[in-house]
Amino acid sequence: MQNQILKLKNEKKAIIIAHYYQDPKIQDIADYVGDSLGMAVFAKKTDAPIAVVCGVKFMAETIKVMNPHKKILLPDPDAGCSLADSCTPAIFNYFKSKYPGAFVMTYVNSSLEIKALSDVIVTSANAVKIAQQMPKDQKIIFGPDQHLGRYVSKQAGRELILFPGNCFVHTSFSAKAMYEIKKQHPEAALIAHPECEDVILSQADFVGSTGQMLCFTQESEYKTFIVMTEAGIMHQMKKNSPNKEFIMGPDLSGCSCNECPHMKLNTLEKIHACLFAETPEVNIAPDLAEKALVPINRMMEMT
Ligand code: 13P
Ligand code: SF4
Repeated sequence: MQNQILKLKNEKKAIIIAHYYQDPKIQDIADYVGDSLGMAVFAKKTDAPIAVVCGVKFMAETIKVMNPHKKILLPDPDAGCSLADSCTPAIFNYFKSKYPGAFVMTYVNSSLEIKALSDVIVTSANAVKIAQQMPKDQKIIFGPDQHLGRYVSKQAGRELILFPGNCFVHTSFSAKAMYEIKKQHPEAALIAHPECEDVILSQADFVGSTGQMLCFTQESEYKTFIVMTEAGIMHQMKKNSPNKEFIMGPDLSGCSCNECPHMKLNTLEKIHACLFAETPEVNIAPDLAEKALVPINRMMEMT
């Protein structure tokens, strides 16, 4: 199946852009594997007419808005994100209405409708940097992930008004079991994604986007890492540092199986089918695309 996809991809001059949470078999046939920001930047740079986005809907939509003339395919149209879906325009508008005049800083894990209601988009890779650039007296709303928002607020030294959303994958890590693993491996570095709760982040030796976590494992002196994010990232970590040890962070049920079911909806079979038929394609109403592009472009300028 991997060979058939590669053949079809070459025939159609298409590219595959994958997120680190994808199945290793998908990561291995991708032209680019990265975090949300990296995927968007890569898509913008390439001149391939067709891109298969192996990630979730908000990633494919962001890439489409930034590349309106490219055909953007999403192998499974149901690959959503429960964090993004939990923040509906009605709820977000109500939240916004309580803080008139506030600047709206929104995580890329959100729908295009929410992006269109925002002033700037951020990813886990650039959120701190962008928050630091805001005028000191500016009131700022941050949504929809409260844990990333709390982390950004502390790092940037800025008060943020937090929308109360969260990612169930990252909030399913058990702090109690984490302390146990840390005790068993005092030599290990604990690395965490900022969607984790503060009780985890406060114990971390490094916090960053998936791409930044991967870089840290490659560049740091540590030989053992306790990894607090989705399990798919372990593939690149092990591949890039074969002599280092990676321990998956423990979740609440103790099974260490933190997988994002939305990300895992993509399969090799679905990628082949979507490349072959060139569907499902991501299409966005032009007026929505125009509104959502404004805060996305602001993010690119501020990054
Ligand atoms: P990154 O942008 O850090 O890859 O995070 C995306 C995501 O969905 C994390 O849950
Ligand atoms: Fe959304 Fe969480 Fe899955 Fe990331 S891991 S795509 S935030 S549900």
